[in-house]
Amino acid sequence: MATVDFVEPNLNVLAHAQTLELEVGSRCGGHGICGGDRVRVLGEPPLSEITEAERRHLSKKELAAGIRLACQCFPNDSTISLRVEIFPDGQ
Ligand code: FES
Repeated sequence: MATVDFVEPNLNVLAHAQTLELEVGSRCGGHGICGGDRVRVLGEPPLSEITEAERRHLSKKELAAGIRLACQCFPNDSTISLRVEIFPDGQ
């Protein structure tokens, strides 16, 4: 699990993880194609809406459990810290 203390609303969770040099499983460069960058952002912070790419790659069960694609998920608040559980390559 990783914690990002500096949150920039214009950066998705993938970019935040990359600033910490964390391997998230991005194989498509953040275009919503590979579905390999599964994460769970803990604590229910305000995040962007679930995208069509996430609905294609994630099951309803995963979505209900709070799993997101890091490249599709943006924080909506810069005053928060992100705590992120990473499942590289969909594991
Ligand atoms: S990096 Fe490929 S879907 Fe997010």
